[in-house]
Amino acid sequence: MEVIETKIDTGSEEYKKNFNSMKALVDDLRAELKKARDDRSEKARKRIEEVGKLPVQKRLDLLLDKNTPFLEIGALAAKDMYDGKVYGAGSIAGIGIVEGREIFVHANDPMIKGGTIYPMGVKKSLRSQRIVMENRLPMIYLIDSGGAFLPLQSEIFPDYDDGGRVFYNQAMTSKMGIPQIASVMGLCTAGGAYIPAMSDDVVHVKGTGAIFLGGPPLVLAATGEEVTADELGGAELHCMESGVSDYYAEDDAHAMAIVRSIVKNLPENKKYPLSMKDPDPPLYDPAEIYGIVSRDLKTPYDVREVIARIVDRSEFLEFKELYGPTLVCGWAYIHGYPVGILGNNGILFSNSALKATQFIQLCDKRKIPLVFLQNINGYIIGREYERIGITKDGHKMVNAVSTATVPKFTVIIGASFGAGNYGMCGRAYSPRFLWNWPNAEIGVMGGEQAADVLVTVKNDQNKRLGLPPLTDDEVKAIKVPIIAAAKKEGDAYYSTANLWDDGIIDPASTRDVLGLSISAALNAPIRDDAYGYGIFRM
Ligand code: COA
Repeated sequence: MEVIETKIDTGSEEYKKNFNSMKALVDDLRAELKKARDDRSEKARKRIEEVGKLPVQKRLDLLLDKNTPFLEIGALAAKDMYDGKVYGAGSIAGIGIVEGREIFVHANDPMIKGGTIYPMGVKKSLRSQRIVMENRLPMIYLIDSGGAFLPLQSEIFPDYDDGGRVFYNQAMTSKMGIPQIASVMGLCTAGGAYIPAMSDDVVHVKGTGAIFLGGPPLVLAATGEEVTADELGGAELHCMESGVSDYYAEDDAHAMAIVRSIVKNLPENKKYPLSMKDPDPPLYDPAEIYGIVSRDLKTPYDVREVIARIVDRSEFLEFKELYGPTLVCGWAYIHGYPVGILGNNGILFSNSALKATQFIQLCDKRKIPLVFLQNINGYIIGREYERIGITKDGHKMVNAVSTATVPKFTVIIGASFGAGNYGMCGRAYSPRFLWNWPNAEIGVMGGEQAADVLVTVKNDQNKRLGLPPLTDDEVKAIKVPIIAAAKKEGDAYYSTANLWDDGIIDPASTRDVLGLSISAALNAPIRDDAYGYGIFRM
């Protein structure tokens, strides 16, 4: 394999300018992540101390193997939603290592409104379960939740992708033979009672953990019976009498030790064997990515320079280098795992879409995971391109991306617009994981273009009605709010708040994040798809 030779001048003014602006974005990201971790009220801190609970971060420290990585999912979910303080949508979730084994953990944070479930909290639970099912990772629930956040109950209740789906997914996960372990560290009320009930193993903490279909206030109102939470659903009742719980824990630390023992006792899971190579770092420092990528998405750069800072030894076997040059495709290794990489070097044309289609099929046949580095404004438009069938060729790429059975991983490293988002494996195309860089922008189209479309539509309408064209003020009245909304809603933070991605990452850690993502994905077999591909329009 050839080594990518860099053409970047790290002493240039442009490099320094790019570097400083990306560094500022990464500093902001770190500050946001820290706030999401630490910003809790004194009242909430005191309350959990009083009742003898540990903060969620401490529980995780006790659960996970020391000095091992944690690939957090949805750390900034629900950012700026609700009262602005429902950090991570009220939970911490991610892939960690317990007793040497990759697991997924989903832990409610009792210091955020009693661990109650907001609409985005449901979305995060469902995303977590999807990761568990797709990658066959054992699931550990650390439950400590006041149940539905009642003022928004109608938004989380009855639909296909609302709260009930969590328990449906648990039943399906169980059917798939994926272990689910629940540790009851606080309330599991009403629907929440089914999380432990539908798990394979239930650990129950004395004094603070309680499981019931109706809490004490509801029981009092409905039956007149006066009971404490512990009497109604505590560890003694469920470990000694009802049999709902399996393991009695003296406190949080003991519960985490029991969960670790349960994981240790699980039968071994053989990971899918890819043809690995020795992992070696890239020749060039990954932090140099800061200086390569311009803050202005319109300024082009060669995506090979990014690839050179992600892959082992900066080695890259490029496929069809001279054909369809706006899409760079090729093979490399990341932390020893073989990957097929697709990275944008401009807008997608017919030839780049055809090249992508062939490349995806090759990787799929050879069982090589796909990595998409998305920086795409869309497919080329215009009469000449329609005449030669850009829609037909774009379809082939979208078809292949949709139906490939190898694990896919997407990093949005810049623009993600229009059908380019689809062809380059946006969220709807089921990449196992999707990460954003902090400079990412996502939308059907840029704000300026969207505003221009609407002005043209309005002027055409006026013409039909015999009215004069829009005045400058009228044009402004249409354009300004559209551009402002697109700017806000196209931002990486808006995406991550809505869980359209699994998180915003530091570009310099892309290689490590991809390595962990691929490793997690290999817990599931790569299967031959009985249906193969659909019909390719020729
Ligand atoms: N919906 C909305 N807000 C809720 C809530 C719910 N289900 N449960 C708790 N909260 C809020 C409280 O109003 C409080 O808000 P504040 O900090 O703004 O005052 C915050 O969460 C913490 O609650 P608090 O009772 O002070 O904390 P705690 O640690 O003593 O107890 C619970 C936490 C969850 C055990 C307790 O609040 C409780 O029993 N909640 C009701 C549970 C229930 O019956 N849910 C049924 C819904 S399915």
